[in-house]
Amino acid sequence: MILTTNKDQLSAQIKDWKKNGQRIGFVPTMGALHDGHLSLCETAAKNADKLVMSIFVNPTQFAPHEDLDSYPRTLERDIENLNNQGIIDLVYAPEQADIYPDGADSAIKAGPAAQGLESDFRPHFFDGVVNVVYRLFTQVNPDIAVFGEKDFQQLQVIEEMVADQAMDINIIPGAIIRDDHGLALSSRNAYLTADELETARMLNQIIYSVAHGISEGVDPDEACKNAAEMLLKAGFDKVDYIAYHPTWSRILAAAWLGKTRLIDNCALPEQD
Ligand code: PAJ
Repeated sequence: MILTTNKDQLSAQIKDWKKNGQRIGFVPTMGALHDGHLSLCETAAKNADKLVMSIFVNPTQFAPHEDLDSYPRTLERDIENLNNQGIIDLVYAPEQADIYPDGADSAIKAGPAAQGLESDFRPHFFDGVVNVVYRLFTQVNPDIAVFGEKDFQQLQVIEEMVADQAMDINIIPGAIIRDDHGLALSSRNAYLTADELETARMLNQIIYSVAHGISEGVDPDEACKNAAEMLLKAGFDKVDYIAYHPTWSRILAAAWLGKTRLIDNCALPEQD
């Protein structure tokens, strides 16, 4: 596995692979890798010949009061995990200057899928994501890229951006990977205390029960309002949102445990 921080080395390698007719798969991440990230690599491997992962904690998607400085950075362990998995061919871990050589201004803004939900609480977030993903796509020039359904709204925003910019990249969703208790794996779970971890495991149970209720005819507003109360009763400190999105046929939620913000979502059960 090649590890590079240099975008010229990245481009030269990609050109070489493309010259040989190999399809490039791309998995963008912010590192602190867990089995959720590794499962995206497996999905990418089914759809491409050579695989690139980026590891870059992108400052433009964090607001000044958020956790940019404390976000877990575990590059050595990440590389070890990827070497053990043996799927990724090249890890691109750029410096800020490689991604934002002329500052962070960007003409590319997040589209309509970014409205509401996360944006009501992190208004800067999707513009920052679109800014970095557009730059990474331009540098890596992949044929396919894999994004997790864990960040379901982000996945929609990226699909929209690729269509708007007429980029010839196939965006492939990766299923949410959960622990034995159903908690969606997240780099931010590392912030949780043992007690908070217990409570965190209620989040998936509650969104699944809302999804079930709605599929059986419970009023969505009522179901979501009750669920927000259940989360607070279970020990969550604040619920940013728990909402039903009819177009996506999903329940999406974000809630706080102490200083940690968790998000999760699930589909409504299939109707016959
Ligand atoms: P990060 O949070 O590191 O996530 C990288 C990718 O892993 C995203 O596509 C995310 O949806 C996916 N992922 C995270 N947890 C997952 C889980 N439990 N199961 C399946 N997939 C999971 O998302 C970002 O980084 C950034 O916003 C990024 C797109 C890299 C832009 O900076």
